[in-house]
Amino acid sequence: MSARARVAALISGRGSNMAALLAAARAPDYPAEIALVLSNRPDAAGLGVAREAGVATAVVESRRFGRDREAFERALDAELERYGIGLVALAGFMRVLTPWFVRRWAGRLVNIHPSLLPAFPGLDTHARALAAGVRIHGCTVHLVGEGVDEGPILAQAAVPVRGDDTPETLAARVLAEEHRLYPAALAWLAAGLVRVECGRARIQGAAAPEAALLNPLPDTPRLPTP
Ligand code: GRF
Repeated sequence: MSARARVAALISGRGSNMAALLAAARAPDYPAEIALVLSNRPDAAGLGVAREAGVATAVVESRRFGRDREAFERALDAELERYGIGLVALAGFMRVLTPWFVRRWAGRLVNIHPSLLPAFPGLDTHARALAAGVRIHGCTVHLVGEGVDEGPILAQAAVPVRGDDTPETLAARVLAEEHRLYPAALAWLAAGLVRVECGRARIQGAAAPEAALLNPLPDTPRLPTP
């Protein structure tokens, strides 16, 4: 019997983070397998990617449930049970989950968000980061709490913001880091290395980098010589 955690990746769109999880889970020593890719939209491009990779897919169309979010989530939950899922990884899943679902999956429900939370929860994070003039931006993997984009932070990746960035160029730089960060954070969770104490997550044995990220670099621009 496999000891690997059975993960469902929940998507609504292109599914590049889901694809990064699939790629990581191909390694025999990865502690999780992506047992299901589930979308709330039948036209999500990521469904095709999952099918091509030979992964089971399912659609629970949120539109069919109108405003009854809990009925939608009960259908979602039934599908997760059907596939014997132990962990749920939100990967561009564009639905806010109710406290009912969040409590049911507490500690087993993880999300990736394209900002350094708690800065810029919600949508349009890259445009908002540029408008705010931040010099460092990034992404966050966190356990899902009851508020939108809230919950204990597992891991973050930071990238520099450049003077000529557009929301698109900045999004691409962040996305590349999302694809590194999410598989790592999911592996820690699946391996049972995450403990939550007083609302903060600790990852057993996790190392922090020595180097700081400064932007702009402190020795630029060069001061004019007198
Ligand atoms: C990512 O930026 C993710 O952080 C956010 O939605 C986007 C989904 O992209 N939650 P993809 O579908 O994984 O390519």
